[in-house]
Amino acid sequence: MKLVLAFALVLSLLAVSSTAEDFDFFYFVQQKPAVDFGIHGLWPNYAKCDRDDHLRRHGLARAVLGDDAFFSIVGRQGRCWPEFCNDDNELILSQIGGLVASLDRSWPTLSCKNRESFQFWSYEWRKHGTCSNLEQHEYFKRALALKARHNLTAILADAGIVPSNTETYSLSSVRDAVAQGTGFTANLQCNRDADGEAQLFQVYMCVDKKGEGAHRLPAVNAQQVSR
Ligand SMILES: *[C@@H]1O[C@H](CO)[C@@H](O)[C@H](O)[C@H]1NC(C)=O
Repeated sequence: MKLVLAFALVLSLLAVSSTAEDFDFFYFVQQKPAVDFGIHGLWPNYAKCDRDDHLRRHGLARAVLGDDAFFSIVGRQGRCWPEFCNDDNELILSQIGGLVASLDRSWPTLSCKNRESFQFWSYEWRKHGTCSNLEQHEYFKRALALKARHNLTAILADAGIVPSNTETYSLSSVRDAVAQGTGFTANLQCNRDADGEAQLFQVYMCVDKKGEGAHRLPAVNAQQVSR
């Protein structure tokens, strides 16, 4: 009986993981390495990523299977986002041919190492894009459209928020300015410059599952969304 139950649970868990990715929204992430923002990625996310909640909901499966089996099967479903959903689906340059000039401008490699942009896009595609339920061309096209539609530099400047060595801005004032200017809920991530001063590093905008409209989500602390 116990074995049969375990099998049934394994099958149902596997069934879930083999259908279309069941995420809740995208984080559209832009980074500010210099004067203007560049795209970091368009990342599918689960709205509920609380591990305790997850364990509660799957308590029976965990009890029957034991911790090791449970975590190996549930695996990435227990996390805050899906990733690497199809290793056979490599990014093909010809699929995004018409977008390369725009991608070079808006989605440049962010690494200081001399990595090729295509490698960066391929990585983002493999890790996040394969979980997006979008085709390659559409995935990159939607990210570019989001960037084109909302110029964060201009939106912040309009709100009086400009890079400065003397002026400091509260996180909430930046978050509010992005929300007002874009209509998207925004989360922020800061880092420190060479002098140890906190500075704005990445802006996460919550985008619906189609990668087009706004997805409403409570703003959270930046640490919770970094990866
Ligand atoms: C965004 O706005 C800033 C400030 O107005 C401008 O300098 C920059 O060229 C704009 N970026 C794009 C991609 O249009």
